[in-house]
Amino acid sequence: MTFKIVQVGHPVLRQQARALSIAEIQSPSIRDLIGLMRDTMREAPGVGLAAPQIGLPLQLAMIEDREDLLQGIDPAVLAERERRPVPFQVIINPTITLDGPEVEFFEGCLSVAGFSAIVPRARRVRVECLDHNADPVVIEASGWHARILQHEIDHLQGTLYIDRMQARSLTTMENLGRYRLGSR
Ligand code: CO
Repeated sequence: MTFKIVQVGHPVLRQQARALSIAEIQSPSIRDLIGLMRDTMREAPGVGLAAPQIGLPLQLAMIEDREDLLQGIDPAVLAERERRPVPFQVIINPTITLDGPEVEFFEGCLSVAGFSAIVPRARRVRVECLDHNADPVVIEASGWHARILQHEIDHLQGTLYIDRMQARSLTTMENLGRYRLGSR
């Protein structure tokens, strides 16, 4: 079973999500939820998923950038984006600190299906959060991993990439490929 991913226009995507308690994180229902969200992210496929995207205003998100997703992509594009595999990680109740200069690349969102736009993002971030066991963790990330973290943590605050995009760069995925906009 997987969840249906809600699309832009649904109010839950614009809500501030609430923090989870330690007891909730360790409960069977949240453990089950994490497994189902992971399956939903993999099926999509996506490199990140936040609870509001399945209709739940909770401060819970996950990231995974698998080797097999990267294999079909031009190595020069991966290098430019500093995109490297990221093992599955659960992010709960995060606080994020942005660092480094902003970099601009096309990105998309499973909740804005079919579109992409250039979004300036910090090149480096530091995230303090709880993991799936409710243990505190610090994630220091750069490049594409830092971009995904910013995108997913935005979801927990009711923010979508369209709020940060260069509006005139908005394109369908089809036209992004057709006009090679992504490899400028
Ligand atoms: Co998204």
